[in-house]
Amino acid sequence: SNPITSIKLVLLGEAAVGKSSIVLRFVSNDFSENKEPTIGAAFLTQRVNINNNTIKFEIWDTAGQERFASLAPMYYRNAQAALVVYDITKPQSFIKARHWVKELHEQASKDIIIALVGNKVDIIENDESERKVAREEGERLAEEEGLIFFETSAKTAENVNDVFLNIGEKIPLK
Ligand code: GTP
Ligand code: MG
Repeated sequence: SNPITSIKLVLLGEAAVGKSSIVLRFVSNDFSENKEPTIGAAFLTQRVNINNNTIKFEIWDTAGQERFASLAPMYYRNAQAALVVYDITKPQSFIKARHWVKELHEQASKDIIIALVGNKVDIIENDESERKVAREEGERLAEEEGLIFFETSAKTAENVNDVFLNIGEKIPLK
């Protein structure tokens, strides 16, 4: 069988956008309505098979609260992939996402694969007026900056696996 390819992946984004919930959905296929804010960072792993190859995601889920901001470079410095997450009902979180993309392009590895993720799409299913960041805004930023783009829901699982599979397909195999 083929060797396992490991991918170091970091999640970045404003507090409460759903970073830990996306990871919980991907790793345990679970969701919690009252997830505790992350303190510092959490480390989790998950293996998936892509085209008969095993990819092991080594995931650093960082804390979005401002008091932990200085820790982020430790986690993205060696990352091969990043999820920059915002909440489609919170415009400020999209502004923060732009800043993260800029910082990654300036400070992270040159060939880092970045996915821009607009989370909580389930909220607008019954009330489109809850949407505060247009899909086109996300698409435009992704196109300008060369990012993968998905809108997701950690709650319903919509597109969550797809984000990771899409990254996995772009990583050179061992
Ligand atoms: P920090 O660790 O503080 O940076 O926050 P975080 O980005 O990890 O957010 P977390 O996953 O803790 O989620 C924050 C809140 O949003 C929790 O109450 C979650 O249940 C909720 N949440 C996360 N994802 C979704 C989603 O897709 N839809 C809905 N409706 N709520 C979500
Ligand atoms: Mg968290």
